[in-house]
Amino acid sequence: MSPNLSLQEFMSVCQQRVEAALDARLPPATKVPERLHQAMRYSTLGGGKRLRPLLTYAAGQTLDLVPELLDAPACAVECIHVYSLIHDDLPAMDDDDLRRGKPTCHKAYDEATAILAGDGLQALAFGILAEDTSLAPIPAENRLAMIQTLATASGSLGMVGGQAIDLDAVGRTLDLPGLEAMHIRKTGALIRASIRLAALAKTGLPSDTADKLDHYAKCIGLAFQIQDDILDEESDTQTLGKTQGKDRQNNKPNYPALLGLSGARQKAHELCEEALESLVPFGDGSRLLQELARFIVRRRN
Ligand code: IPE
Ligand code: IPE
Ligand code: MG
Ligand code: MG
Ligand code: MG
Repeated sequence: MSPNLSLQEFMSVCQQRVEAALDARLPPATKVPERLHQAMRYSTLGGGKRLRPLLTYAAGQTLDLVPELLDAPACAVECIHVYSLIHDDLPAMDDDDLRRGKPTCHKAYDEATAILAGDGLQALAFGILAEDTSLAPIPAENRLAMIQTLATASGSLGMVGGQAIDLDAVGRTLDLPGLEAMHIRKTGALIRASIRLAALAKTGLPSDTADKLDHYAKCIGLAFQIQDDILDEESDTQTLGKTQGKDRQNNKPNYPALLGLSGARQKAHELCEEALESLVPFGDGSRLLQELARFIVRRRN
């Protein structure tokens, strides 16, 4: 991948790259049980911004890693993300009909298949980190740390824990620290893992370098969910590819509800600045990560 690509070119190259890598790793639609594999492929392929894989590839570029070492981590984190979206949309959770511009998994298939498709994607993610041959050059110790990182980020101390807090908070008012703690888990943890997995693909990375990247990831992870909350309020269904106004409809506590739209925007921008600050020691090598931070707070879907 050329280091001189514009952000738009980089996004397009990585989106195509991760699409092909996911396609190759997902079981074929013709393999038994066909309906389950079709549902997994339906929700995973052909949609989404692929922000988490983009972050993995961009962090990899900053660390001078070849993209071949990042395909497996990028796929693993995207599989967890897609599983989280399928379950997030279920009637027992946010009860959404539209995702990535098409019917949600449980609408296109059925609820039981959607639950199982999520479960299958979760297992696939860990299978990829454990046995993908593209990771052979990475020491076993680092690969184990990758599995641990994704497990913690996905589980009850990370994404799933954040989702539990989100559901428990329906109809209640969270204060700012409470809201931040929820967002850091439900969305931030997986975004942070996207960057950490790239750092773990680099052997012998000094811990202070990894910490700088991690702080960047923590800031943009929170900024990402704040922007998601803002867009839920002010965007439209067509642009979002998911139903606008669901947070208000479902009585979800979110940043615009607590700080107002302009307060939420300001918070997201402050976090973006803090993230950029963390990249200063990397100089121009972190250009794509810098541009992705700015993209996160100005995106429209
Ligand atoms: C939506 O994530 C769900 C959140 C964690 C906020 P994205 O906005 O990254 O969704 P896709 O992958 O582009 O569809
Ligand atoms: C979802 O947050 C976070 C996940 C872990 C999927 P939201 O419920 O706000 O995501 P959207 O708005 O439905 O994409
Ligand atoms: Mg939700
Ligand atoms: Mg939702
Ligand atoms: Mg949302």
